[in-house]
Amino acid sequence: MIEFRDVHKYYGDYHALRGINATIKAGEFFSLLGPSGCGKTTLLRTIAGFEDISSGAVLIDGKHMVDVPANVRPTNMVFQSYAIFPHLTVEQNVGFGLRREGGTPAEKARRVEEALEMVGLKGFGKRAAHALSGGQRQRVALARALILKPKVLLLDEPLSALDKKMREQMQVELIRLQRQVGITFILVTHDQEEALVMSDRIAVMFEGQIAQLADPETLYRRPNSRQVANFIGVMNFLPAKVLTEAAGRIAIDVQGLGQTEIDATQAPGAVTGGEISVGFRPETLTMLYEGQTTTERETPGTIEEVVYYGDMTYYDVRLDGVDSPVRISMRNVFGRPVLDIGTRTRVAWSAGALVLFR
Ligand SMILES: Nc1ncnc2c1ncn2[C@@H]1O[C@H](COP(=O)(O)OP(=O)(O)O)[C@@H](O)[C@H]1O
Ligand SMILES: [Mg+2]
Repeated sequence: MIEFRDVHKYYGDYHALRGINATIKAGEFFSLLGPSGCGKTTLLRTIAGFEDISSGAVLIDGKHMVDVPANVRPTNMVFQSYAIFPHLTVEQNVGFGLRREGGTPAEKARRVEEALEMVGLKGFGKRAAHALSGGQRQRVALARALILKPKVLLLDEPLSALDKKMREQMQVELIRLQRQVGITFILVTHDQEEALVMSDRIAVMFEGQIAQLADPETLYRRPNSRQVANFIGVMNFLPAKVLTEAAGRIAIDVQGLGQTEIDATQAPGAVTGGEISVGFRPETLTMLYEGQTTTERETPGTIEEVVYYGDMTYYDVRLDGVDSPVRISMRNVFGRPVLDIGTRTRVAWSAGALVLFR
């Protein structure tokens, strides 16, 4: 549907996009995720035609976009700032894009009503746009983009101005909307949780390049570098040595955890020699309570920090024989006390959760 072929973009001397190769499928909810300044907006704008590229190619439906102006591309964009007209009503805002289209006023009114219903604003048409809340304004902006029936909807941090509750609600609604209309959504966000929640696939970008492109679960469970692992959630790292590699199994010696064996698929960064580290997510570790046993491996340690979140508690535990503490997340359960700093504990872990990095 959308294809980037070795796309480079310079702003003067600044190399903003450094060889982007990717294909986005029709009907996909696709996200561009990365820290501020990594080139997400620039890449999105090359799809819309708001930004020329310095070399390479952008194709939509197999067609080169090089000479295709923005206003005839099958794309539409929703911006972070709502970009609606405050002095117009909701229906005037939504109908704005139809002004150059054919059709009777009655047909246009019906399309406006349809678009408003899609975004949950049925009955709001006569309201003044300036009287709407942030979330409602963003819905108006969405309706205005959807009414033109683009094949691709481009969303540049559309929810970042909303407060946490409203943002979470809009995330769910955007997913529902995308399923309902079935068109390709491409979302730019710097919020890893938002990308995980919403996307079919995510391209993680750093400094003008795609570091990894995968579905949310693969990105979270099998990040291909320490940089990606650190950007998406929390990852603990321990130094390790590779002992032997044979028949798809890798024997390793991990500081504090000792010797164990992992599958070669757990070493996505093609690890050979040098400084190796083992990564594991906080929820793959479990603190054992007194008398509790495990079928997994266990390692003793001491609690150094406790952060209580209500439903969860995060513990920083210094495992015996390890230089720095590891973070462990535990779901709080009724009747089980939160443990104190200084408590000696045992930590259960399993080799299947480990990921090896160069
Ligand atoms: N019009 C421009 N002129 C010069 N530099 C720009 C321009 N637009 C963006 N940049 C630079 O390109 C880099 C990528 O910007 P952008 O795509 O907006 O990043 P993101 O959306 O990931 O935060 C940044 O360093 C930014 O300063
Ligand atoms: Mg941006």
